[in-house]
Amino acid sequence: MAPARHVFSLCFYLFCIILSNSRLISGQNKAVFACDVSSNPGLKNFSFCDSSLDVKTRVSDLVSRLTLQEKIGWLVNGAKGVSRLGIPNYQWWSEALHGVSYVGPGTKFSGLVPGATSFPQVILTAATFNESLFEIIGKVVSTEARAMYNVGLAGLTFWSPNINIFRDPRWGRGQETPGEDPVLSSKYGAGYVRGLQQRDDGDKERLKVAACCKHYTAYDLDNWKGFQRYNFDAVVTKQDLDDTFQPPFKSCVLDGNVASVMCSYNQVNGKPTCGDPDLLAGVIRGQWNLNGYIVTDCDSLNEMFYTQKYTKTPEETAALSVNSGVDLNCGDFLSSFALGAVTKGLLNETVIDRAMSNNFATMMRLGFFDGDPSKQIYGNLGPKDVCTEANQELAREVARQGIVLLKNTEGSLPLSATSIQNLAVIGPNSNATHTMLGNYEGTPCKYTSPLKGLAALVATVYQPGCADVKCATAQVDAAKKVASMADAVVLVMGSDQSIEAESLDRVDITLPGQQKLLINSVAEVSKGPVILVLMTGGGVDVQFAKDNPNITSILWVGFPGEAGGAAIADVIFGLYNPGGKLPMTWYPQSYVDQVNMTNMNMRPDPETGYPGRTYRFYKGDTVFSFGDGLSYSQFSHSLVKAPQLISVQLQEDHECHSSTCKSINAVEDTCKNVAFDIHVRVKNTGKLSGSHTIFLFSTPPEVHNSPQKHLLDFEKLHLTPQGEELVRFSVDVCKHLSLVDENGNRKVALGLHVLHVGNLTHTLNVRI
Ligand SMILES: *[C@@H]1O[C@H](CO)[C@@H](O)[C@H](O)[C@H]1NC(C)=O
Ligand SMILES: *[C@@H]1O[C@H](CO)[C@@H](O)[C@H](O)[C@H]1NC(C)=O
Ligand SMILES: *[C@@H]1O[C@H](CO)[C@@H](O)[C@H](O)[C@H]1NC(C)=O
Ligand SMILES: *[C@@H]1O[C@H](CO)[C@@H](O)[C@H](O)[C@H]1NC(C)=O
Ligand SMILES: *[C@@H]1O[C@H](CO)[C@@H](O)[C@H](O)[C@H]1NC(C)=O
Ligand SMILES: *[C@@H]1O[C@H](CO)[C@@H](O)[C@H](O)[C@H]1NC(C)=O
Repeated sequence: MAPARHVFSLCFYLFCIILSNSRLISGQNKAVFACDVSSNPGLKNFSFCDSSLDVKTRVSDLVSRLTLQEKIGWLVNGAKGVSRLGIPNYQWWSEALHGVSYVGPGTKFSGLVPGATSFPQVILTAATFNESLFEIIGKVVSTEARAMYNVGLAGLTFWSPNINIFRDPRWGRGQETPGEDPVLSSKYGAGYVRGLQQRDDGDKERLKVAACCKHYTAYDLDNWKGFQRYNFDAVVTKQDLDDTFQPPFKSCVLDGNVASVMCSYNQVNGKPTCGDPDLLAGVIRGQWNLNGYIVTDCDSLNEMFYTQKYTKTPEETAALSVNSGVDLNCGDFLSSFALGAVTKGLLNETVIDRAMSNNFATMMRLGFFDGDPSKQIYGNLGPKDVCTEANQELAREVARQGIVLLKNTEGSLPLSATSIQNLAVIGPNSNATHTMLGNYEGTPCKYTSPLKGLAALVATVYQPGCADVKCATAQVDAAKKVASMADAVVLVMGSDQSIEAESLDRVDITLPGQQKLLINSVAEVSKGPVILVLMTGGGVDVQFAKDNPNITSILWVGFPGEAGGAAIADVIFGLYNPGGKLPMTWYPQSYVDQVNMTNMNMRPDPETGYPGRTYRFYKGDTVFSFGDGLSYSQFSHSLVKAPQLISVQLQEDHECHSSTCKSINAVEDTCKNVAFDIHVRVKNTGKLSGSHTIFLFSTPPEVHNSPQKHLLDFEKLHLTPQGEELVRFSVDVCKHLSLVDENGNRKVALGLHVLHVGNLTHTLNVRI
């Protein structure tokens, strides 16, 4: 009878799960929280429920009351409640990459909250180069998240943003990131995290929701030609690690005060990141002093043991991860093996207490242990605060600000709505809805497809041209027919999650299938402007379209979010003057034919002909470059103030006084007050108001394999026609001008640094 009993108890168990889940999801519409003193007055006697005490005291009190098994129950994302202490189950895994997402079991949509505001996929938000906007979006998302938490539909811990460097154009998850530049990624990450976490009452210790910067580190390959993220060993030099892959994480912790960092699946130089004490306890906890918890990717520990076979026993993997600094395991590896690891003497309770305490401290900072959340700050938020008109308008505004105008022949864009009688809208993404969201999406409030956005302004004729984005067979004749009769043509092409996605890297970076044939055929017969709209996450080789004179404009719209179609129409018809700039290099197909995705090196290698990566190191041909993006206006720059000489004071006995140094260490002593200003006057010389991003780049002296150019800072301005403004960059020599040497140390190169703003250059001599 044993098997029957087993089945029975399993059914009973499942039944329980379903019951408790449905209660959580649609039954009570109530937030999950601990220390519910109104239903259990006895809880008042526990110090951990006393919100007037500091977090540390409360956490130690709580830890002292738990058994080892109960502690281990809080080391996994499906945390097990302790009913005798009034602690419910808690699901740690929620996501909010560009709006509250349904990815992860912690968040659900229901009749009560059927959708949330779905902002553009991050790569397009990055293209806005609008630093204050990153935080504004985060703030709206956390308000909607809190509102959903209050009605039992979401958690308080969100595993967003993804701030990995978009190293290779084939990466399917490049769309989730802010692009290839460490400075932009750092500003995006810190800004979005502040928006998610900061409370309106200015209480710096407490959190509105908890964000998580992921995936630490050097993670940017999913599934390429048989290489899998689950066991990929990223071979990374010390120099590339410290000047390319780590800076966004460092900034996220130090400038964003993020409450969590997630370690990745891959190995770095032979060690799985979730089992590397130097990367976790050493850097994140030790050097950066994370105030929060370190979580594994889902399910990194399984991969570490079963796929990577990194340790002999699962208990060793469990012990290694927690001893290395992991606090929380997405998955159930630790609930299965942590106890065994303790029994075998591989892991001790002190270390488990540390992990647990970091987890509980985060929940305390979120108010989870403060009793009924409806009586706390944000307690009045609810379904009425999700998908508000203002939030949806912001989604449209972000898309408008991000859209990048890559080509615009005189007389093409903007189109005039009054002179277009008949607009042909062609292409597999013309009527895109879900595709506009990109991945890690939620159910949006509503959709405005490109077709709907355009049809709201002019009469349209629609022809998909391909069955889907894979475009196995283009319907050339039907497309040519509508194109030849139209005053103008908008081709909405590109990709979707069947081409670039999580677990799906590209092999080719050309447009899929017969899309090129369709575009060229339409361009051949059109009598008016032909506008090519590219809806993709990563760059595509569209050199053919750049070169074809009949294709008069090219717009890149990323995955533009729920209101993407409205934003596209706003730009095409001049209701909005585009100002987005590419946050990543667009390479030709020949680049990916030549370069292995598995090669992590950022710097070129003349011996093998390896060309290097990103605008900082790659010198070969591009289809479009980092920072490219036109406007309907023109902007001019003039240099108003910039020093020619910077002297760094060194101590009398410094070795560089007696011998020649090519660089000096960027350490505190040297760096005190070595800063200068660059003032640039920017003028809108065009006829339309518009926003313009001013990039300050520098080419350092050629020491330590330095980049050919790197971004020091950027600033975005809005200018009316003929309007001008002064931009003041404050350049800190150690922070901005420094670079990382071959050993991973930050140095300031001595000699001539060439600063670039637009097409202006200015030479600055840094000496001692
Ligand atoms: C627990 O384990 C850690 C890491 O291995 C070790 O540093 C510490 O001394 C141990 N503590 C006790 C009380 O055994
Ligand atoms: C566009 O797609 C929507 C559903 O996503 C569909 O209802 C509508 O009919 C489509 N429009 C056209 C013109 O095919
Ligand atoms: C461009 O359009 C003209 C007709 O307007 C056509 O004769 C020519 O072949 C086209 N060129 C290309 C490259 O499509
Ligand atoms: C790419 O990687 C493969 C397998 O690791 C190797 O055999 C090949 O030589 C590499 N090609 C280049 C161009 O580096
Ligand atoms: C520099 O840029 C301005 C507009 O930003 C342009 O008018 C000028 O021709 C450019 N100069 C050169 C040398 O490219
Ligand atoms: C940045 O975004 C905010 C919010 O949409 C907007 O008010 C501001 O004008 C933008 N800045 C520029 C320079 O466009």
